[in-house]
Amino acid sequence: MMKIRKRVAGAALLTFAVLLASSGKSWAAGETWEQRVEITAHRGNSSQAPDNTLEAFESAMKTGADWIETDVTQSKDGILVLFHDEDLGPATGKQGKIWELTFEELRQINPKPSMGPSFRDARVPSLSEAMDLCKDKIKMNLEIKVNGHQTADFVARVVAMVREKGMDDQCMITSFQYSVLEQVKALAPGLKTGLITNTAIDPAQPLPAADYVMLNVSLTIPQVVSGLQAQGKKVGVWTVNDGTALEKCRLAGADNVITDKPGTIL
Ligand code: G3P
Ligand code: MG
Repeated sequence: MMKIRKRVAGAALLTFAVLLASSGKSWAAGETWEQRVEITAHRGNSSQAPDNTLEAFESAMKTGADWIETDVTQSKDGILVLFHDEDLGPATGKQGKIWELTFEELRQINPKPSMGPSFRDARVPSLSEAMDLCKDKIKMNLEIKVNGHQTADFVARVVAMVREKGMDDQCMITSFQYSVLEQVKALAPGLKTGLITNTAIDPAQPLPAADYVMLNVSLTIPQVVSGLQAQGKKVGVWTVNDGTALEKCRLAGADNVITDKPGTIL
């Protein structure tokens, strides 16, 4: 899908260039926003498969998305696992907190029965198996979810796993907690990072540990996006699920669109 999108846009650009040349005007060729912007499948293709599962990541790959975003936390026995909520209840219908179950216990649970019988075999994945699935196929935005129950080396273990898998160039680490990004940069200065925010941000604020800023769509105004970009940041926007939100991203010149519906947005 991505290749098709770029090819169609490329053909349109070529036609435009020919028309300009024949009219005698000069024109510097450049990528359009639609060609340049990257698409991130939020928790995988979460509108079509249970979020944060291998099924959602495989589905995202089929849409041609550039990235998947996923939420990293730990099971009771310290395994790095992918799950959004602290409470198991809302998604799974089971009692308990994510840190109260071992990985093997989590594996007995369907992470989102509301998605129907076609996904009855979906399971909470480990970060390791998700990385094996995505390696060389789709980039990974690993959001670190801090809940106060993880081991002290939680962030370091995520960084170590990225290195162990040889995926430094294919991953970024994001978090609502800026201190997490500082930890990542102290351990791996070359690893890309992103600060997620759902509150207003001063674009002039120095954020040396963040390569990206991920803005809630309600905060996406051109002056904020261009101000952050002027500081050398890339700007992502979440969660972009309709044409109105997408148009906000286009007008503001966002670099990355994070969506539950990558197929529709693409
Ligand atoms: O990437 C931004 C987004 O994932 C943050 O929100 O709650 O879906 O993890 P949430
Ligand atoms: Mg997330």
